Amino acid sequence: MRVEDKSAAYRQVLPRINALIEGEADVIAVMSTVICELHQAMPYFDWTGFYRVTAPEMLTVGPYQGGHGCLHIPFAQGICGRSARLKSTVITDDVNSQSDHIACATSTLSEIVVPLLDQHDNLVAVLDVDSDSPAAFDDIDKHYLEKICQTISQTLYS
Ligand code: SME
Repeated sequence: MRVEDKSAAYRQVLPRINALIEGEADVIAVMSTVICELHQAMPYFDWTGFYRVTAPEMLTVGPYQGGHGCLHIPFAQGICGRSARLKSTVITDDVNSQSDHIACATSTLSEIVVPLLDQHDNLVAVLDVDSDSPAAFDDIDKHYLEKICQTISQTLYS
């Protein structure tokens, strides 16, 4: 997707997400709504979902759209686990070159994982997006997806 088109798509979806989740305190309602909006707005998002921290060092799948994902991912595994350990965004241009990548769909070629932190900087979940296009994610995705995670955090935890 062209850089201008990508930015325009994010700029369109962002206010919709903000308006839809404003004042909502239910975590599933917020996560489901964000995933729905992003998945429909961004044509190169082929799997879009949250993995939630449900036990020490353990992620469990949350609201998502796309084919079925792994149900549990330990922090020690996967690109999701790497992002959870680092508490920072991980962009993977070619998932097949990463030994820690967990393949839920063979069609996936690139991935971005963004941490969702609460007001005390504790990890609550990671936002995982997979694309069937190579190198689909860049700093524009990082910028907007991190902004969306900050909005979710403010909505739910402040
Ligand atoms: N690819 C992820 C696993 C989750 S699925 O892609 C939905 C990872 O390596 O952590």
